Amino acid sequence: MLEHLPYFQKHLPDDLQRVNRVINQAVDSDVVLISQIGQYIISAGGKRLRPILTILAGKALGYEDDPLFSLAAMVEFIHTSTLLHDDVVDESDLRRGRKTANNMFGNAAAVLVGDFLYTRAFQLMVATGKLRILEVMAEATNIIAEGEVLQLMNIGNIEVTEAEYLHVIEYKTAKLFQAAAQVGAIMAQATEQQELALKNYGTHVGTAFQIIDDVLDYAGDVASIGKNVGDDLAEGKPTLPLIYLLNQGSDSAKADVRHALEQADRSYFDKIHQHVLQSDALAYCTAQAKKAVNAAVNSLQGLPDNECTQAMRDLAMASLSRIS
Ligand code: IPE
Ligand code: IPE
Ligand code: MG
Ligand code: MG
Repeated sequence: MLEHLPYFQKHLPDDLQRVNRVINQAVDSDVVLISQIGQYIISAGGKRLRPILTILAGKALGYEDDPLFSLAAMVEFIHTSTLLHDDVVDESDLRRGRKTANNMFGNAAAVLVGDFLYTRAFQLMVATGKLRILEVMAEATNIIAEGEVLQLMNIGNIEVTEAEYLHVIEYKTAKLFQAAAQVGAIMAQATEQQELALKNYGTHVGTAFQIIDDVLDYAGDVASIGKNVGDDLAEGKPTLPLIYLLNQGSDSAKADVRHALEQADRSYFDKIHQHVLQSDALAYCTAQAKKAVNAAVNSLQGLPDNECTQAMRDLAMASLSRIS
């Protein structure tokens, strides 16, 4: 999604090489299964959006020393550990175009290696000696856990409101985007105002990103998203396209969505998919994501105007173009 954009073409390969060096070193363990599973998920790629946010935030304010890249790797470790755990919880089979770790190595191994990456991330933070970083990440990881549990409590609930949905995605997803940007700001010794601007930028991009991701669970193409479609429905997860249908859909759409969510059964996918495509659900979700993208771009006002802030604007816009 970013390859054609100027900053990402010119600088991203070098930036990511610096991050990957840390990642490869830090994933190493004498316990063979840890390195094996860690490498398995990390080498499958992923968009590396969160470490990119850390790097852009730091560089936008003129900081690009090694600790920035080490903390960018730390952020990717937190993300990867949440994916390992999330795929167990969601019983997902495909991630980054490969079998999920739980599918390949079993739930126990996936959860435990998730714990390894999670704790390794904290070791990387401690190495910087900056208590503020620990403070931000301790809060973020705690909120992410709350978000995942809140979402669990909403499973099969056809009464979930859009505000409740937004609350969940702010916690489970946007919080890490926020923290990723904030970590870059802290390392660059940002002013309070600059840190707040970058923090808000992260929150809004994360929100847009998750709305679009939830749309792709219906409208996406397995090859390009590297995940199966229909996982959310199979779990009975009331995401925005379904909340839209429950509120604004035809009577038959409303009845089918209610039934599908309550049964949490993949066999309803084709029917619900049709309702999503035949209604304004996609247009509505895209419009909500666009609002978040605009808010992200507006947050950047007051920051220096340079290649990195331009790249942040591009990245925010690109999060929408995942739907084509
Ligand atoms: C997946 O995030 C989890 C969500 C918040 C939707 P990404 O789509 O950024 O995952 P990778 O790292 O690119 O695989
Ligand atoms: C991912 O949420 C959020 C976290 C990992 C905390 P989802 O369950 O919606 O994301 P995918 O679809 O599995 O990537
Ligand atoms: Mg999931
Ligand atoms: Mg999930």
